[in-house]
Amino acid sequence: MTLRAVVRGVGHYLPERVVPNSEFETLVDTSDEWIRSRSGIERRHFAAEGEMTSDLACKAAEAALANAGMTVDQIDAIVVATSTPDLTFPSVATMVQARLGMVKGFAFDVQAVCAGFVFALSNANALIVSGQAKRALVIGAETFSRLMDWTDRSTCVLFGDGAGALVLEAVEGKGDASDRGILATDLNSDGRFRDLLYVDGGTSTGTTGHLRMEGKEVFRHAVEKLAETAHASLDKLGLTGEDVDWIVPHQANIRIIESTAKRMKVPMERVVVTVQDHGNTSAASIPLAMSVGRARGQIKEGDLLVAEAIGGGLAWGSVVLRW
Ligand code: UT7
Repeated sequence: MTLRAVVRGVGHYLPERVVPNSEFETLVDTSDEWIRSRSGIERRHFAAEGEMTSDLACKAAEAALANAGMTVDQIDAIVVATSTPDLTFPSVATMVQARLGMVKGFAFDVQAVCAGFVFALSNANALIVSGQAKRALVIGAETFSRLMDWTDRSTCVLFGDGAGALVLEAVEGKGDASDRGILATDLNSDGRFRDLLYVDGGTSTGTTGHLRMEGKEVFRHAVEKLAETAHASLDKLGLTGEDVDWIVPHQANIRIIESTAKRMKVPMERVVVTVQDHGNTSAASIPLAMSVGRARGQIKEGDLLVAEAIGGGLAWGSVVLRW
């Protein structure tokens, strides 16, 4: 028998304020047409003044717990993927822990930018299969609107705020790819590419800073590396794109999503796409897409999913799981 981390619940939260592309037309030299055609984004949500990453994370966690039919006292670990913590420390995860009323177990953040949720899932899986946690809340939560340079049209139109969460539970499986739960992961990073996507603030400046991106270069890496990592995870199971029911990609750009699906020989009908409604929500994008995909009736119990993401670092990776 093999311990598997099985998804028991999923949920998400999006801030109330919806910002259509047209709002940017008065801010910078851009157009709805450019944003749609170059990225696939039509609108995104922005957090209200005073609404923090931990607030979004808590609401997503509560939705996931309700969906799982569980209460917080059944959870023994919280892992939050974020690059936009309320404070440098303590972690968003411990803030969520306190707010949910969880007084045991442990909580910590993972920071791998847009690949954060894949890294967090892989970490939570390791905790579960090694017996260090029985049930874990894994959350991706971001307020990237707080990192935008509103004079930089090449970045400010791309990002949004939101949060998504999964409840994972340790379940005995047979040890083959027919098991439910996380079946394989593949994590990568290459710090030589730090200048392609970064925030120019932190302890070195004493400011929060703004997001800076060489979009074209990141795009080039994404197109190559996302299919590669998805194949690496599937290879570990002797599976191919043909076995995949749903790709749940990081939602940065529809052209990257389409190109990765094509390289994996998976038709777009089997890809969960939310980029038009959420923009790029960094570490929140995959759990948000899982939650929306489930609510739309796309993802069903027993379906084989591949989640893949790339972001600042560069850091990239994938997770194969059976829902
Ligand atoms: O989540 C982390 C990973 N991040 C990503 O995956 C993002 C990857 N990159 C991308 O998605 C795309 O590269 C972008 C959407 C950022 C840009 O699309 P692109 O097709 O690579 O455009 P570009 O950067 O080559 O820019 C084309 C033109 C430029 O003008 P010139 O130099 O050709 O005259 C830009 O100045 O479009 C211009 N441009 C804009 N025009 C109108 C850049 N931003 C805008 C804008 N509105 N917002």
